[in-house]
Amino acid sequence: MTTQFIGKSQSRVDGPRKVSGGARYAADFNQPGQAYAVIVSATAGLGRISGMETAAVERMPGVLAVITHRNAEKLPYLPHKAGIDPAIGERLHVLQDDEVRFFGQPVALIVAETLDQAERAVAALRISYEVRQPLVDPTGSGAEQVVPEAGRAGSRIPADRARGDADGALAGAAVTVDETYTMARENHNPMEPHATVAAWSGDRLTLWSKSQYLVNEQAEIAAVFGLPVENVEVICPFVGGAFGTSLRTWPHVTLAALAARRVRRPVKLVLTRKQMFFTTGHRPRTMQRIALGATKEGKLKGIIHEGAGETSRHEQFMEALTAVTDYMYSCPNVRTRYRLVQLDTGTPNHMRGPGESSGMFALESAIDELSYKLGIDPIELKRRNEPEVDETEGKPFSSRSLMQCYTLGAERFGWARRNPEPRSMRDGRLLIGMGVASATYPAFHAPSSARVRLLASGVAEVEAAASDMGPGTYTSMTQVAAEFLGLPLERVRFRLGRTDYPQTPSHGGSWTMASVGSAIRAACIEAQTQAARLAVADAGSPVAGASLDDLEWSDGRLRRRGETTPGPSYQDIVAKRGVSIEAGGSAQRDPEVAAKYSMHSFGAVFAEVAVDPDVGTIRVRRIVGAYGIGRVVNPLLARSQCTGGMVGGMSMALMEQTALDPRDGRPVNAHMADYLMPVNLDIPHMEAHFVDEVDPHVNPLGVKGLGEIALVGTAPAIANAVFHATGKRVRNLPIRIEDMLTS
Ligand code: MOS
Repeated sequence: MTTQFIGKSQSRVDGPRKVSGGARYAADFNQPGQAYAVIVSATAGLGRISGMETAAVERMPGVLAVITHRNAEKLPYLPHKAGIDPAIGERLHVLQDDEVRFFGQPVALIVAETLDQAERAVAALRISYEVRQPLVDPTGSGAEQVVPEAGRAGSRIPADRARGDADGALAGAAVTVDETYTMARENHNPMEPHATVAAWSGDRLTLWSKSQYLVNEQAEIAAVFGLPVENVEVICPFVGGAFGTSLRTWPHVTLAALAARRVRRPVKLVLTRKQMFFTTGHRPRTMQRIALGATKEGKLKGIIHEGAGETSRHEQFMEALTAVTDYMYSCPNVRTRYRLVQLDTGTPNHMRGPGESSGMFALESAIDELSYKLGIDPIELKRRNEPEVDETEGKPFSSRSLMQCYTLGAERFGWARRNPEPRSMRDGRLLIGMGVASATYPAFHAPSSARVRLLASGVAEVEAAASDMGPGTYTSMTQVAAEFLGLPLERVRFRLGRTDYPQTPSHGGSWTMASVGSAIRAACIEAQTQAARLAVADAGSPVAGASLDDLEWSDGRLRRRGETTPGPSYQDIVAKRGVSIEAGGSAQRDPEVAAKYSMHSFGAVFAEVAVDPDVGTIRVRRIVGAYGIGRVVNPLLARSQCTGGMVGGMSMALMEQTALDPRDGRPVNAHMADYLMPVNLDIPHMEAHFVDEVDPHVNPLGVKGLGEIALVGTAPAIANAVFHATGKRVRNLPIRIEDMLTS
């Protein structure tokens, strides 16, 4: 497909609005007469509320309501589950009983005239608890690994899967690695906090709310309040980063609506940074065992991957932790096992590269360990075990360019300059290390719809209820629409972020371009066909009476194929007709194609670190990634997404960790000072490269998706580089200075 806009770098169409302050985020949608709600978060880890002194607080200046389980309206909470909700368990029902299930659970809500008055009232409210000891350590005593109930065979995330006899193969293998890898809990910590402004008009509710999945927030809140779906509207034109935390509809949305109904005024509710560590999901802490058995020549004979992740007591959150091991390497004997540990904490949630990034940390660390045991370069080891097909089910890959990624990445990174001997490379006092790891993520595609309107002004309006949490959806979708309409970018207005636009899947799973982009393409083609039909039916048109097959569009004008005389433009056709042309389109993956191919993106990530042997500080100097992700719609934004993902992977490797107090499950570092994340000075030189990859199977656009894969592979590449620099293998993330100083 020769393209005019797809595949071209284009800076953000919404950039000027963002830098000039014109972009409005959820909390910016102030409403007339608005009151302010602040959540009171439980300060006990488990138990029940035994007393609340609300009377004095109710009399404080400006206080409009103190809502607790005693006086909150009973909400219907009709059954509702979306794909992003855990299949097993039930969401937290807020202020419906006196139970405290985890530290930070909302136990009351104070509504006041001003934010300050609400905060003062929260500080004055006294609540007593009957406490029990919560279980908050997934490795501690009392922690039990359970089989995920939704992990039956055939599930994308199976609890158990095996081919051949992995245990037998390991026992007989010439060289083995058998190690345990653990990773800390992480919180998403986007810049924009969760926020909802709720306003009722009779039994209709409008929510200006931070969301990666508007149509589900609409449906879920409708179910919680027992309303028809069409009575709820969600508006969210901009998202200030989310990384998965806004995929689900968390309790604060319900609370904002509840408060607005109680005080009969619009209510604004913004979570504090601290509260974003309680009820809005986190990357689960994971414990993984990887066992590898290989021949002396480095041929894998057996792989075992046993992983467990934490979840809450009330929901079984699952992620594809061990599934990567099923298809990364060619190996006749593979056994994977996935378990959950249910804790008295909030429910985890998808966080960028969920499952895959944690699973690949373990797998790619172990493969690196094996490479040293064998004395084989890790890239060569991967090459010797590169599969022809996805050996899980024997299906061909729709495309797999992993080895091309290694060739390209190694060349750009300068892998050949690496001395394979650990602790052999120095820069003055500093120990230099180079590490490498593979990245992978499924190429998903979910059903989506979109709408195109061709206006008499010559402008095309394109709409979908999608989100743009930062990757550049506004821009890339504008490019897709311009491409398939044959209009210049300035003539396309792409809108998202409203539930009255056509429905889309969640803005996650790296599937927005595959799904929404394909729907926009379909809508554009339909609009174009309608316009052409009108033109040929118009006796006065230069294309009158032509067959549609003999016509083509060029620069937004219709003409007879092969002729140069320009025919009518969209504008001419619409002006003549008198009303705009409107077309809907939808797209979903052909189930036959889906059954035939294994569809994943792949990449190779290279990292260079410098470790100070005296004080143990680790500096990442360079990260180079090479990716095979099918068609790249906008190389500029794609690179930007990748470098963002690399920063996330680097902070997974060296910084991020939510520490819980074992006594009550309180996150002890629930603020930006102690929850470490990279700042500009930490950011290394980063490069993202893309191999030319054509995938005719994934979707009509040939895109495999980008986003999640950018984080996957970075942490193990860094951990492997740290080993190469120091000879010290750290199997627990984040790697800390202390790990460098102790033996
Ligand atoms: Mo991504 S974790 O699906 O926002």
